[in-house]
Amino acid sequence: MRRPTIVAGNWKMHLDLRECGAYLDAFLPRLAGRPASGCEVVLAPNFTLLATMRQPCEEAGVALAGQNCHPQAHGAFTGETAVAMLAAVGAAYVLVGHSERRHLFHEDGDFLNQKVLAVIAAGLRPIFCVGETLDERSAGREQEVVCRQLQAGLRQVQQAAPVVVAYEPVWAIGTGRTATAADAQEMHAFIRRSLAEMLPGGEEIPVLYGGSVKPGNAAELLAGTDVDGVLVGGASLVPEDFYEIVVAGDRAAAQV
Ligand code: PGA
Repeated sequence: MRRPTIVAGNWKMHLDLRECGAYLDAFLPRLAGRPASGCEVVLAPNFTLLATMRQPCEEAGVALAGQNCHPQAHGAFTGETAVAMLAAVGAAYVLVGHSERRHLFHEDGDFLNQKVLAVIAAGLRPIFCVGETLDERSAGREQEVVCRQLQAGLRQVQQAAPVVVAYEPVWAIGTGRTATAADAQEMHAFIRRSLAEMLPGGEEIPVLYGGSVKPGNAAELLAGTDVDGVLVGGASLVPEDFYEIVVAGDRAAAQV
């Protein structure tokens, strides 16, 4: 089976309703005429924007993602959003375990595992993020850390099909420092082997790279045999830049 190429933009806590309108006006028309065999384009806006983005994005073939969710279906969880609520406003994916959630909001492996299971149970696809800190890499522990994150987050997951994994070395996020294409490929190959051991069909799970992906380095990163796409933060906020990365994704998809 051929793994799809996925180019996902994570807007984080940027772009409000007005800015989102201007963004879509600049970004979506560029997508007309892309090859049918192109990459899957995903945008993860703030959840307040999903309902408005749903129709124009659907028409342009752009899938939507929530940036976070709560594992429970409903209840007294002030400020939280259930997966079904995200689905109801058009999300097909949910980011789970982004390093900002792990580090700033202290979300641990068990909690993230509950979220992954909730996303799959609701029929959506988790984009499960893993990645080591600079200290962990300096100590040569990056594979051990990532393996542990995968094992904890994907515990009891039975099917590989809905799962997407994003490798985002923490030291590369928002820093302008990117893993070299060779380092990214090495870790992605390791992740693929680990996923293959963890669950049936695990080798078919798309593994995205994230961390300071820009128009200037996307093609090189995407050239890695085990790099199936990119998760883009800062550069996804600029429609022209994100479009260039989509073009690199289309080229990579054509070569799979
Ligand atoms: P960045 O963010 O591209 O701004 O480094 C990536 C991410 O956090 O997903």
